[in-house]
Amino acid sequence: MTFLLYLLLGLVASLIGGLYLFGVFRQRRPGEPPLDKGPIPWLGHAIEFHRHPVKFLERMKQKHGEIFTVRLAGMYITVLLDPLSLAAFVHESEEKLSLSKFSVKVAERIFGVKISGHEKHSTLINKHLRGDGLEVLTQTMMSNLQDVMLQNICLSLDRKTWIEDNLSVFSIKMIFKASYLSLFGKVSQKSCGSVEKAKEKDLADSQVLFSEYSKFYHLFPKLAVGLLTPWEKMEVEKLKKSLWNALSVQKLKTRDNISRWVLDVEQDHQEMGMKESMIDRHMLILLWVSQSNAGPSAFWLLFFLMKHPEAMSAVKKEVDDILKESGQKVVHGGPLINVTYDMLTKMPILDSALEETLRLTVTLFLFRSVIQDMAFKMADGCEYQIRNGDSMAAFPYIAIHTDPEIYSDPHSFKYNRFLNPDGSKKTTFFKAGKKVKHHSMPWGAGTTMCPGRFFALNELKLFVFLMLVYFDLELMDPEEEIPDVDTSRLGFGVTHPSRDVRFRYRHRV
Ligand SMILES: *[C@@H]1O[C@H](CO)[C@@H](O)[C@H](O)[C@H]1NC(C)=O
Ligand SMILES: *[C@@H]1O[C@H](CO)[C@@H](O)[C@H](O)[C@H]1NC(C)=O
Ligand SMILES: *[C@@H]1O[C@H](CO)[C@@H](O)[C@H](O)[C@H]1NC(C)=O
Repeated sequence: MTFLLYLLLGLVASLIGGLYLFGVFRQRRPGEPPLDKGPIPWLGHAIEFHRHPVKFLERMKQKHGEIFTVRLAGMYITVLLDPLSLAAFVHESEEKLSLSKFSVKVAERIFGVKISGHEKHSTLINKHLRGDGLEVLTQTMMSNLQDVMLQNICLSLDRKTWIEDNLSVFSIKMIFKASYLSLFGKVSQKSCGSVEKAKEKDLADSQVLFSEYSKFYHLFPKLAVGLLTPWEKMEVEKLKKSLWNALSVQKLKTRDNISRWVLDVEQDHQEMGMKESMIDRHMLILLWVSQSNAGPSAFWLLFFLMKHPEAMSAVKKEVDDILKESGQKVVHGGPLINVTYDMLTKMPILDSALEETLRLTVTLFLFRSVIQDMAFKMADGCEYQIRNGDSMAAFPYIAIHTDPEIYSDPHSFKYNRFLNPDGSKKTTFFKAGKKVKHHSMPWGAGTTMCPGRFFALNELKLFVFLMLVYFDLELMDPEEEIPDVDTSRLGFGVTHPSRDVRFRYRHRV
């Protein structure tokens, strides 16, 4: 998930440590990558980096090529931007390039927990977020998404009336509510008296939780770099407490239909002898990992589809065909439709549009601590010496996703970029005549590849599927520009737009 965090935490740690001050005297040794210490003692390039990491790294690439070492607040980071060498980087052993050192620190700082038993976590994720477990969760997500989506529009009697909204908030909210209810379950029907009452209460509760979560989310980038004002610090503590409470083991006891994943994580921690208050804190991490990227991805995908009518009509046709093939059709006010896991696997056009969206919007640092002196061998055979105590970072967004030799016209959205002429999924891309092993890395790669990716993809596909079969949607301003990205969240995963976009939707007629 959030690799910039690891990086920033490193910065903070080095601020406190102060030991790196000695780095002032550092010189490039033979065999090392080009060294650029930046204009300011100790801080190096930190200010420019902080302002816009992507622009900064693009400038460095122009100047030094595809591997170089920069100084950021006392820390030396070797940045790797060669697409053909990324495979070697992500598959390097944990004894040389370590990730785990950082993830522990992050969890402690942000969520107030000590992570151990990391292995077990991944096992649980693999069990519940892929294969059969994934099928069950997708099914639950599907019906919850429909409940959440149809809630507003049911209130409007006239089907031809457009409803206006803000696309980013809309997408994030829909995904949040549906996945919260899918993972953390629902109020028990017995306690509410009837199915309808229970449903109403679930929607109301998830709205309250969403508003708390949004406030926490808003403060997150500053929390990560330790730049909160005293007032904001108090606010964050208050929000965390309220979220821990809402997701607590005690609260879960009163709920039905909790996902197996959440139940197993809870049980697992109990068996480890963890205090209940600590388990509550872990629950917020689960909510966090299930949310932080899905909502913004949903926003970008819908935005690009609305912005590119030819993409919209191609995806819409695919969605309609799949629904028809399954023998179903949308009846307004009628029963919900049943979009199965199987149907979602037969949608190459939507897959391609989604992959294209992620290519353009995921800015993820793959960050490692160097824990012994080592030689790093590039794909062209050049070898570079890397020092123990430094860090290494790869940045696929520049290295691969926007390399014009791999993707022509790399900054424009082409919904069919990942399709072969025969309509099948395209998986081979080349640079300088060589096949690029990882042609798209929105989820990281190797051992640290995001284990929740299958669920995330399904969730996004479901969301778009349902939006398109139920609604006509369009931008309020057909000439709407692509919003700038929020630079404070660059490197954290999916970028966020710096402003919202107006759109409108109504029942398909
Ligand atoms: C949409 O965003 C604008 C500006 O950010 C805000 O004033 C407005 O209340 C929002 N509308 C809705 C329906 O959320
Ligand atoms: C929730 O659980 C109850 C009882 O276990 C089951 O009958 C019902 O179908 C479940 N509801 C959903 C939406 O999964
Ligand atoms: C949807 O279809 C799947 C697979 O055929 C089935 O297992 C499931 O029970 C159906 N769900 C609903 C709500 O009809």
